Amino acid sequence: MPEESTPARQIIEAEIRAKGPITFARFMEIALYGEHGYYTALVNAGVDYATSPQMHPAFGSLIAGYLFKAWQALGEPATFDVVELGAGDGGLALDVLDAVESGQSVSDQVDRFGEALRYHAFDLRPRGSVRRIDELSELGSIVGCVISNELLDAFPAHIFTVRGGEVLECFVGIGGDSELAFVEGDVSSNEIVNRVGEYASVLPEGYRGEVNLDIETWANSLAGLLKSGYVLTIDYGYERDTLYHPVRREGSLRCYRDHVLGQNPFRDVGLQDMTAHVDFTAVREELREVGLREVSPLLTQRDFLFGLGIGDYIRQVRRELVKSVAEIEVHGLTSELRRLNSLVDSRGLGDFRVSQFGVNAPSIEISDLEFAP
Ligand SMILES: C[S@@+](CC[C@H](N)C(=O)[O-])C[C@H]1O[C@@H](n2cnc3c(N)ncnc32)[C@H](O)[C@@H]1O
Repeated sequence: MPEESTPARQIIEAEIRAKGPITFARFMEIALYGEHGYYTALVNAGVDYATSPQMHPAFGSLIAGYLFKAWQALGEPATFDVVELGAGDGGLALDVLDAVESGQSVSDQVDRFGEALRYHAFDLRPRGSVRRIDELSELGSIVGCVISNELLDAFPAHIFTVRGGEVLECFVGIGGDSELAFVEGDVSSNEIVNRVGEYASVLPEGYRGEVNLDIETWANSLAGLLKSGYVLTIDYGYERDTLYHPVRREGSLRCYRDHVLGQNPFRDVGLQDMTAHVDFTAVREELREVGLREVSPLLTQRDFLFGLGIGDYIRQVRRELVKSVAEIEVHGLTSELRRLNSLVDSRGLGDFRVSQFGVNAPSIEISDLEFAP
């Protein structure tokens, strides 16, 4: 059945007709961020999937706890700037600020942290009170923390394939049936081969995977931004050896519409979200390149959140559940427990990776982290 035409698809087809096949990164850029792209049109943006901040406000409270530790590790500066990139509708920002505000008067130190904290939320396609990414340069350089949740997986990615032990690129063209289709050719950038060339001889014929070259641009933008502080990055993904593995022979590209997972990027172009798992080895290489140092091993979100105390939240809800008798209350608490548990579910959000880098900043003490059983 022919795929439904959409405004984003028409723009893509016109570009292919004018210039020939385009990279998948260009396709993804138009489909997500172009004039009629998924995040530009803002009709569905953010409702087709549930990210951690959307799952439960405890995520934001725990991030607030992390930021407090970061502020302490930096010597409790009078101004502590937090820059959130890819903040979407600003949900995480609200939860962090709520948690800090509700912690006021608990101790002098928490009060001083609240006074020092300046939270700046930016996005390429902002919603609500989030600011446009172009305004980031107005901040100058900061002492604080740059955080992101599910930003890197939303960057446009190139797709490669393996043919006869060589790396080729999968471009998007128009097939004989007038449908969008992959067309293989020489890579558009040698950086693709630099990233994945060493796997070409071990990956099966026809293996397909994604390469995210925008990680370099993102890392470069952080270099000038942080005078001292941390970069906390949370996302789907793996170290490179695990990411480019024969078990994932179709790659990690995922499409989401109405909470339904799909794998056909050429359907509902501009109406569905698309993501590709993050190569955390590339994150490390690019951040080191710009002078940042890894201040913790790569953690799973499950271990990170247990380390920050999610166990207390889960135990508290369980205690309330045992005591509650009214049906409506039991229902609400059961739902809350399910949402909290999903943040640390190893088959879902709990399997996300958390990377922590720093510049002119000591390691954040994680020895007191309560690791998940
Ligand atoms: C999957 S959403 C995550 C939103 C939010 N962080 C959350 O966890 O709910 C990815 C967000 O990254 C934004 N984004 C993509 N590329 C960006 C860039 N280069 N700079 C800033 N934001 C970007 C998108 O517009 C989108 O809002």
